[in-house]
Amino acid sequence: MQINVTMKKNFLLAMMMCFGGTAMAQTPIYLDDNQSIEVRVQDALSRMTLEEKVRLSYAQSKFSSPGVPRLGIPELYWSDGPHGVRMEINWNDWNHANWTNDSITAFPALTALAATWNPVMSAAYGKSISEEALYREKDVMLGPGVNIYRTPLNGRNFEYMGEDPYLASVMVVPYIQEMQKNGVAACVKHYALNNQETWRNHIDVQVSERALYEIYLPAFKAAITKGGSWTIMGAYNKIAGTHACHNDRMLNQILKKDWKFDGVVVSDWGGTHDTKEAALNGLEVEMGSYTNGLTSESDFGYDDYYLGKAYLKMIKDGQIPESVVNDKAARILRLIFRTSMNRKKPFGSICTEAHYAAAEAIGNEGIVLLKNAPVTKKSSALLPLKKDYQNILVVGDNAVRKLNEGGGSSELKVKDMVSPLDGLRAIYGNRVKYAQGYTAGKPMYGNADVISKEVEDKLREEAVAMAKEADVVILVGGLNKNHFQDCEGGDRQQYGLPFGQVQLIEELQAVNKNLVLVLLSGNAVEMPWVDKVPAIVQGWYLGSMGGKSIANVLSGKVNPSGKLPFSFPVKLTDCGAHAFDELSYPGDGIKQVYKEDILVGYRWHDTKKIPAAFAFGHGLSYTQFEYGKAIASAKKMTEDGTLEIAVKVKNVGDVAGKEVVQLYIGDDKCSVVRPLKELKHFEKIALNPGEEKTVTFTVTVDDLKFYDDSKKDWMAETGKFKAYIGSSSTDIRTIVPFVLE
Ligand code: BGC
Repeated sequence: MQINVTMKKNFLLAMMMCFGGTAMAQTPIYLDDNQSIEVRVQDALSRMTLEEKVRLSYAQSKFSSPGVPRLGIPELYWSDGPHGVRMEINWNDWNHANWTNDSITAFPALTALAATWNPVMSAAYGKSISEEALYREKDVMLGPGVNIYRTPLNGRNFEYMGEDPYLASVMVVPYIQEMQKNGVAACVKHYALNNQETWRNHIDVQVSERALYEIYLPAFKAAITKGGSWTIMGAYNKIAGTHACHNDRMLNQILKKDWKFDGVVVSDWGGTHDTKEAALNGLEVEMGSYTNGLTSESDFGYDDYYLGKAYLKMIKDGQIPESVVNDKAARILRLIFRTSMNRKKPFGSICTEAHYAAAEAIGNEGIVLLKNAPVTKKSSALLPLKKDYQNILVVGDNAVRKLNEGGGSSELKVKDMVSPLDGLRAIYGNRVKYAQGYTAGKPMYGNADVISKEVEDKLREEAVAMAKEADVVILVGGLNKNHFQDCEGGDRQQYGLPFGQVQLIEELQAVNKNLVLVLLSGNAVEMPWVDKVPAIVQGWYLGSMGGKSIANVLSGKVNPSGKLPFSFPVKLTDCGAHAFDELSYPGDGIKQVYKEDILVGYRWHDTKKIPAAFAFGHGLSYTQFEYGKAIASAKKMTEDGTLEIAVKVKNVGDVAGKEVVQLYIGDDKCSVVRPLKELKHFEKIALNPGEEKTVTFTVTVDDLKFYDDSKKDWMAETGKFKAYIGSSSTDIRTIVPFVLE
């Protein structure tokens, strides 16, 4: 059994305070678990000096912030996030601490989780990761991330949940709830409008009120009001002129007043830039990358943080009212009592069978079968792989690459890792051969390795020669976690596949038509070669058990059921963010204007009639699902009423499978521009061959509303609407018209 050091320390301190000293004192209220947290917070506050209250508000190391040692109130340990518990980092610098006991389970990236369209998977994710956090004695996990996928170039999209606010809202909630049940705080990030890495530290994002409320805020709102997240991280960028970490409107008004957030706002690391603004505009804890004005790090340096001695001085000078410091300290104490000083929380565990099973299950359900065509008119689809293949050639750097390394703060040190090659070998044994085919150089954060043409040619030619002999070729490619790929701190520099993969694909398919492409990435890529590749699988970054999940799907052991959480535009300019000038993306270096407004992702493709290569919500199965005609409970709906819409879905193929039934709403006529349709409900159902189920959705008037800038409120205009029900945003199987009266 693990001994939880912090808990033991608290207990001893409490005992000393109770029984030590002269007389037998009563247990102070703040130490008494049987009291409510609010009573304990007030009691602790009443015993604290001003200096002690201020000291709660800034870091004492790269990943911890202090408690109140004199009162036996422990510190908080923060950790990245969001796909597993990050390896230990040195107290005062960014080097890995090189411990030997911090290897953990890497869970699938959040894009993969979103692609499951299954809240049960999100719950399993939050529960498992919190158990690993408890083992590692972390109090706050820095995730999940819910910044909306605006452009496929954003280097951090893999850490987020896609382009649709409703999907992200549904998926984020169980992750947080299950994590916090274990006394580990979630930290939803990066609030808000951090939709690109280019110039992330200073770019001033300008977006309409409508787009803010309809697209960029809903998932954060759900994380707070439904998930009950105990912490939230302010983004690096500016919003309408002020840094997100000290933005009065975002923090004091929207988050704390409108959403009634009672937790802690933490800065992104180094995202604080002004003492008074930070103090007055709603930041509770300042964490940092480097200390302002310091050239090297030291314990002492933390007092120089904006919320350090400068903050204390301003309170003493009367420039910042004491009510501000009391409110911040109360919020931080609340967080401490919920997490590090929560004596009822369970012991943790790492790398258990259950965690591996959860990681594998999430991977199984998140993989998206983009395309599965027969190679010739007479043959069947290429996947699942035929059982009698004797010579299976796996090609690609990503078939063996350690994709948990790199990527920035979401980097992970894993105990076990099943690569796609390992996963396929576990099923097909020595029938599997391997050729690297291309190289991306070593994993790194800085400039990429320069690969010579000779090396590139040699690797490609070897693979092509082996492909001639193979029954089937499985190319495991895509992006990786190097800088300017799927990585924090920089956006992708090109939409197309890097590292000579386009030429590799073309040459492989020229010698072997049985070509399966498995793309490992957190982003869409340009696919000018799409018609030449009969089977394409979106395999994300799936963590420790990723290779198993991929082999499960390719072999047919698992029937794929993932659906895209974002669109794959044919070319970059088909994406709304890129349809305008540079001010829209990436901005002019100072500011940026989101010119596509509310038409993000499929809302743009649909409304502007620009087809995507693969649409939002798309994902094939090894079986087929037949949809009946959807039936509504009435033809009309009143403002306070609801409409039940029922549709029968039947598995008409030969194997069991899961289908995500999606319901979109479109407003026929409106005084403002509206997307053709918007996702409002979905349900994932499992069906055996021949089985039929009825899915019933309850549509409410909230599903029909848009955000009215002039009224500063949500509005629905009376008139005709349509409910579109189908298997993706473009594969609509049945439409129900109705009227709002
Ligand atoms: C990232 C955050 C991360 C933090 C701590 C920042 O650079 O933007 O997402 O949690 O570092 O590593």
